[in-house]
Amino acid sequence: MIKVKKRKILLLPGDGIGPEVVAEVKKIIEWFNKNKSLDFEIDEDLVGGSSYDKNGTPITDEVFYKALECEAVILGAVGGPKWDNLDFSKKPERALLKLRKELKLFANLRPAICFKQLVNASSLKPEIVSGLDIMIVRELTGGIYFGEPRGIKLVDNGERKGINTHVYTSNEIQRVAKVAFDLAKKRNNKVTSCEKSNVMEAGQLWKEEVQTLHEKEYKEVKLEHMLADNCAMQLLRNPKQFDVIVTDNLFGDILSDEAAMLTGSLGLLPSASLGAKDKNGNIRSMYEPVHGSAPDIAGKGLANPIATILSFAMALRYSLNLDKEAETLEKSVQSVLDDGLRTKDILSQGKKEVSTTQMGDAIISKLK
Ligand code: IPM
Ligand code: MG
Repeated sequence: MIKVKKRKILLLPGDGIGPEVVAEVKKIIEWFNKNKSLDFEIDEDLVGGSSYDKNGTPITDEVFYKALECEAVILGAVGGPKWDNLDFSKKPERALLKLRKELKLFANLRPAICFKQLVNASSLKPEIVSGLDIMIVRELTGGIYFGEPRGIKLVDNGERKGINTHVYTSNEIQRVAKVAFDLAKKRNNKVTSCEKSNVMEAGQLWKEEVQTLHEKEYKEVKLEHMLADNCAMQLLRNPKQFDVIVTDNLFGDILSDEAAMLTGSLGLLPSASLGAKDKNGNIRSMYEPVHGSAPDIAGKGLANPIATILSFAMALRYSLNLDKEAETLEKSVQSVLDDGLRTKDILSQGKKEVSTTQMGDAIISKLK
């Protein structure tokens, strides 16, 4: 077997169900190492609350540098009630935000696809969701998540004031819109850009910059502007009108959770966070399921590993240039669903309930 060069993958399982779902991806990577002419080098470390418990910080410099050096980061989930009362700077979520910001992962791709086998798992009527295939492109390093000034301040009358700033520059808007237009060209050629230009100046700028870029470089793509509240409503009313949705960090956070539920379960949605191409054409990247750490079901074998497994498939495609392997993995997931195997979150009548590890094993058994 000809071996290609070693490709470093950093696994950051994190908290809650993170370790359980990332363990299934690790098995898959090991399978690829053993059975295909691939040679992934896996490293694994702490992030989030688990890192805080051991090292007093949600991410150590050492782990951060590992993330800088690898070809792709696969992150499980961070956070949980155990760490809710920590100082803001120590909260598990800060690790995730630091990785996103400092690796400059400005484009977060969140595909929401309703698998035909799961049409009945959605809380919406089958005819509304069957065949659904949306790509949400969420801006990930700007907006109210990172804007300054921020903080909680004491004011003169003894009251406290919480401050966050929603701010975007033209460049930040245009570079993420470019990602959305380029994706749309390979899909159904339509971009819906969402903001609140009716009440926010930064929203007005968003709309104008997307429009300018469209006129300059992407006239052949259909562009539609939509207010974010209307978008939330349209996603439930007629989700199939969308192809690519591009929006800011906060609206993207909310709309992608909503879109996830159209597909049946938050446990199915992968994501890719991508940076700009460097001079060698490489991009920095991190892959994570859209779902959180779900502390209520952690450690019980109930978590659905599919979102994380599909996130790894996105890593194969976007970071590791292994389209064929990505497709093989995606097909294996489909095939296990065809067989009627379901984790609890997507269980319906007549289907067989399996645990997290059983789902992982079943997917691996289809890889051959
Ligand atoms: C997400 C999550 C994160 C976010 C949290 C865990 C900080 O909800 O990735 O959607 O708000 O971005
Ligand atoms: Mg979220």
